[in-house]
Amino acid sequence: MSDSGSSILRGIGSYVPSIKVDNNELSKKVDTSDEWIRSRTGIKERRYAAEDENTSDLALKASQRAIDMAGVSPEEIDLVLVATITPDMAFPSTACLLQHKLGIPQVACFDLEAACSGFLYALDVADGMLSSGRYKCALVVGAEKLSSIMDWEDRTTCVLFGDGAGAAILTKTGKGAEMLGFQCGADGSNPSLLHQPAGGSALPASTETILARGHFLKMNGREIFKSAVRVMERASRELLSHHGIDISEVNHVIPHQANARIVESLSQRLEIPLDKFFCNLHKYGNTSAASIPIALDEAFKAEKFRKDDLGLLVAFGAGLTWSSALVRF
Ligand code: ACO
Repeated sequence: MSDSGSSILRGIGSYVPSIKVDNNELSKKVDTSDEWIRSRTGIKERRYAAEDENTSDLALKASQRAIDMAGVSPEEIDLVLVATITPDMAFPSTACLLQHKLGIPQVACFDLEAACSGFLYALDVADGMLSSGRYKCALVVGAEKLSSIMDWEDRTTCVLFGDGAGAAILTKTGKGAEMLGFQCGADGSNPSLLHQPAGGSALPASTETILARGHFLKMNGREIFKSAVRVMERASRELLSHHGIDISEVNHVIPHQANARIVESLSQRLEIPLDKFFCNLHKYGNTSAASIPIALDEAFKAEKFRKDDLGLLVAFGAGLTWSSALVRF
């Protein structure tokens, strides 16, 4: 639990690629249907990056929008953090590639991998680094090109995911929403529930790993569903209780956008009415680390937040990881 808190969210921006694929189009390529996908997940369409559009390109566009909103210049940024499970390449980091594309000076840049919980993990890390006094202005990004690791022969996973990016500028001073605190956790006891088995040091790329389709995302959806609801409820309750805030005081919940049924179950378990939850997963599917910043940006732009409203951000992802954050708008 971290409550160094009180970083200011000065700007937020997002970008989704222009290729839009709805469920009916997808069902021409995969043995599925609009009815199955919508009733099981709530997803209607998703965006895919073009072949030559990489995660760092999506991150670049989202970052430019966040920088514009914050009214800072790239020269002022002294920390770049990118949360992703689909970096342009294993190394160098996507954060380094993004730094160069944005013309940011030679400052600290690194990637953080906590799957769909990654953006809130990255905000927590940036908040801590800003609180140390050694950094002043952080660019925090969640960006994914999940279409690059999707198995088009596995209908149980390929219909769920999309591409996109969201970015935030965090500082200790200035005007914006106040980050009050964070909670991050993980349970690494069952990694194969959701993983990309090949391509790392355990199973380096080989003809065998390619034939076994080991470079694609694999998931036990049913088990992930059960864990997701449990860990997101816990991450929410623990964070609120640590800050002495009653659940009834929460004005908005921005959950990880994976599945409408997960959001409904969370709403029931937290006893927070569904109309306080912001959802855009019907448009984008699950964009992993990009999902919360894209949703946050859209909710901001839709003027959902009034001054002093309290927001709860909560996510879960491969690991299993989870994370939550409280923000005063
Ligand atoms: N189209 C049509 N039928 C399908 C499809 C599809 N795309 N996918 C599976 N089915 C079939 C199955 O083959 C099965 O058929 P059978 O009964 O004849 O065997 C049937 O539908 C039911 O399959 P289940 O897997 O049991 O379906 P379930 O109701 O559990 O829904 C789903 C699957 C949507 C994946 C759900 O389990 C889920 O959302 N889990 C959470 C996943 C998630 O949120 N992951 C994100 C993790 S975040 C990160 O870090 C990336």
